Amino acid sequence: MKPREHFGSRFAVIAAMAGSAVGLGNIWRFPYVLGEYGGAAFILVYTVASLLVALPIFFAEAVIGRRSGSDTFGAMNKLAPGTAWKWAGLITILSPLLILSYYSVVGGWSVQYLFKALSFDFTGGAAEAEVTGYFGQFISSTWQPILSHTLFIAMVAGIVLGGIKNGIERFSKVAMPVLLLLILFIVVYSLTLPGSMAGVKYLLKPDFSRLNADAYAAALGQAFFSLSLGVGTVLTYSSYVKKEENLVVSGVGTAISDLVFALVAAFAIMPAVFAAGFEPGSGPGLVFQTLPYIFNKMSQGMPILSTLVSVSFFLSILAAALTSAISMLEVGVAYLVDQKGMNRRRATWLLSLGVWLLGLLCSLSFGPLADVKLLGRNIFDLLDGLCSNWLLPLGGLIFTLFVGWWMSKPDVRDELTNGGTCNVRIFNAVYFLMRYLAPIGILVVFLSNLFL
Ligand code: PHE
Repeated sequence: MKPREHFGSRFAVIAAMAGSAVGLGNIWRFPYVLGEYGGAAFILVYTVASLLVALPIFFAEAVIGRRSGSDTFGAMNKLAPGTAWKWAGLITILSPLLILSYYSVVGGWSVQYLFKALSFDFTGGAAEAEVTGYFGQFISSTWQPILSHTLFIAMVAGIVLGGIKNGIERFSKVAMPVLLLLILFIVVYSLTLPGSMAGVKYLLKPDFSRLNADAYAAALGQAFFSLSLGVGTVLTYSSYVKKEENLVVSGVGTAISDLVFALVAAFAIMPAVFAAGFEPGSGPGLVFQTLPYIFNKMSQGMPILSTLVSVSFFLSILAAALTSAISMLEVGVAYLVDQKGMNRRRATWLLSLGVWLLGLLCSLSFGPLADVKLLGRNIFDLLDGLCSNWLLPLGGLIFTLFVGWWMSKPDVRDELTNGGTCNVRIFNAVYFLMRYLAPIGILVVFLSNLFL
């Protein structure tokens, strides 16, 4: 058997982990959730939720992954042989594949919008209804979204085929810095638009009256999704982290990058939204409807600038979505390679095909299959609800209970302090959060799903 691959450096670890974390959740979801729950006040709650609840779960996954050096099923099997924990590991192989099937549909939309931006479609003075209406037309058609979805999955498979060093690491190390530069460029553009300061004020002025129970639950749920927790991606990536690497530093680096990217995305989007006179809480259509119109409106007479801005914007969404999607696929690939002895090429194609097929249904659920509904939701929303509201927190609960209550404290300490050589002073605090606060946070998410 070939020795297990490892990430080459600390930067590689953080680029890959942050790549997984920073995705549609940051650029597409965070800005509009923020809009719904009162701007800066929500940022505050979100920051606390990520650092005190989400990060400890991240550490729990990282401990399991690196200690076992295995995929999620193998990890549980190795650390708790002969117990039922391995079945819990199996759930977290399924969930990222389910997420990937609908995530790649939205990834496909960004491919389509990138092409549109490249062909100068977001310039000139098209009417608002025309620009925003295009989105509905596009996603409800049959073939075009399927084509984009296919392209997206093909790119994901292409990267994962390269393996850890030559695929995931190499791509993330380029994509993440480029992503940051592109978004910063949009921030600068956005802030120079007349009237944009209202957006800045909105982001910086806390409106505590909007912080109801719903907002706290939304902050926790968002922190979960955004840090890619509970679905084995952190576990699997950590199994490729060298023993001498500092897991706490990697985790904190990832959480901070995730937060910074979410904030930068909000500062790229909200000032432009205010400058164009739109409502900040316009929901999921924000990125694919409102923004293309804004680029269009603000650019009359400056087609090159507006093309540059819209190309940068959709390229950044695509890059962010790709670095997340590869982490989801890698969970299943690692399982097939480690447990079933399959070669990487075969495992990657097999799983990509399965995800592609399920994704077809998700894509069609905005068009020909729109009437196929369960509990009032179409296939896309059903899968999203199942994963975001149930499978992710369930996975998180499994991992924290495993590390906080099943593994022995000395083992956990050994892994998080690299045998007592680092993080010794903060270990007890981290362990406490992992054992108590994180499971309670997850219960809050469950309860809010049931009752709010
Ligand atoms: N964290 C990613 C995002 O913010 C989504 C994701 C979830 C990635 C679960 C991997 C696993 O878009």
